[in-house]
Amino acid sequence: AKKAVLGPLVGAVDQGTSSTRFLVFNSKTAELLSHHQVEIKQEFPKEGWVEQDPKEILQSVYECIEKTCEKLGQLNIDISNIKAIGVSNQRETTVVWDKLTGEPLYNAVAAPVSPGPSDPVAVVPSGSSVPAAGTSSVWLDLRTQSTVETLSKRIPGNNNFVKSKTGLPLSTYFSAVKLRWLLDNVRKVQKAVEEDRALFGTIDSWLIWCLTGGPNGGVHCTDVTNASRTMLFNIHSLEWDKELCEFFEIPMKILPNVRSSSEIYGLMKAGALEGVPISGCLGDQSAALVGQMCFQDGQAKNTYGTGCFLLCNTGRKCVFSEHGLLTTVAYKLGRDKPVYYALEGSVAIAGAVIRWLRDNLGIIKTSEEIEKLAKEVGTSYGCYFVPAFSGLYAPYWEPSARGIICGLTQFTNKCHIAFAALEAVCFQTREILDAMNRDCGIPLSHLQVDGGMTTNKILMQLQADILYIPVVKPSMPETTALGAAMAAGAAEGVGVWSLEPDDLSAVTMERFEPQINAEESEIRYSTWKKAVMKSMGWVT
Ligand code: G3P
Repeated sequence: AKKAVLGPLVGAVDQGTSSTRFLVFNSKTAELLSHHQVEIKQEFPKEGWVEQDPKEILQSVYECIEKTCEKLGQLNIDISNIKAIGVSNQRETTVVWDKLTGEPLYNAVAAPVSPGPSDPVAVVPSGSSVPAAGTSSVWLDLRTQSTVETLSKRIPGNNNFVKSKTGLPLSTYFSAVKLRWLLDNVRKVQKAVEEDRALFGTIDSWLIWCLTGGPNGGVHCTDVTNASRTMLFNIHSLEWDKELCEFFEIPMKILPNVRSSSEIYGLMKAGALEGVPISGCLGDQSAALVGQMCFQDGQAKNTYGTGCFLLCNTGRKCVFSEHGLLTTVAYKLGRDKPVYYALEGSVAIAGAVIRWLRDNLGIIKTSEEIEKLAKEVGTSYGCYFVPAFSGLYAPYWEPSARGIICGLTQFTNKCHIAFAALEAVCFQTREILDAMNRDCGIPLSHLQVDGGMTTNKILMQLQADILYIPVVKPSMPETTALGAAMAAGAAEGVGVWSLEPDDLSAVTMERFEPQINAEESEIRYSTWKKAVMKSMGWVT
């Protein structure tokens, strides 16, 4: 059959906490032509620990690329039209690997070693153990809580030392403390650092290094958005910060080069897309901001993934929050282009609560079933579910919180719990929207949303009801991948995407208006807040 003729195409890897996707877009219209998705395992070896296997993640990327190319072939679309690839990724998740072998360094052989005269650094704190073979420390992981407590007592000068440089509170969420933990606890990491073989990276760095050749010339880099989540990066000078590296005792030689979010980093070294430039890189939440075309000061989007992340573009100014939001790098779309900043409200658990109902409670078999259960009852019947599995992030930053389900009666059934889980996602968004409105001064008139969960119509309606403003969702929810594709296509030397609204002609919008009265919305929200208070202080 004759191959379909199209304009230039751009591919994007979207490596999230729950799954990996590869998607191919037409750069003239943003039409999604084909994609493939693979679910990623998450291990919970101990209470509070969350791990993933970097090699499984890499494999899933190769699998998604190959399968998508096969699907394009079946559609008679020539893959040689793919002119660039962008990478977007779950942020903060920390990997250390050996640059000579390409192996992640937390392998089962790296058994805990007792401190001894010949090996004074290999100390494993009591109650701790090394991670299982080939794991990375995921952003949700809480094992560094005691490290954070120790470090917070040593903050030099005033308490603003970390926040003023990075925009972030000292928290288990960010990479620096995860890296500190690995340096303290994994002998192989210590040894590789001593022998100059260790490289550190967030998932973007790990993937780009591997995809561009690994031990055979792989490019060790990251972009400004991912770097801004490590707690080692100065968001004003856009460089690794020497004082922060000293404070966290991180050897600077293992850090990747920091580049803009849109430039050619290197070429694909293998597979169906060998030779195609990788020219876009953004942490997934920044990618979604770009994919939603939130390029103006005051434009915001909320992405519903494993967690939920509301970002508001603050333009070229770094705005510091008074209400528990983070200051983060939004994007820098080209080596010579200016940097833009965002305020971010981060919610740790959103889609993850549905996965928990599926995998831990077994009340649904597939994530999609949640909508059917919730629809059966259309109310939580007074049941509230605070999914503080990893403590509470914004606006509370409360590591002592743990999940609770409350307001149960003999009448409560799994449908009410399913409804309460969806409502929890919406209430958490309301909390960060309120904080955002207070910090920005001008309340948002509507909320742009995206991400996998936005296909759930009950969730979208509930969100409009609970925020009491309209919720606007694009017909194509894969905005994160779209943003990475746009950055890749717009890079110097690629030049197939202009970042003008015309390039998104294939994307239409759906709008959800509030349908309950304002008083009812407020009553439900204030009861939620009572439940949140009860979730705090479970861990001392
Ligand atoms: O900061 C963590 C975030 O980047 C994870 O995103 O899509 O896996 O919820 P997601």
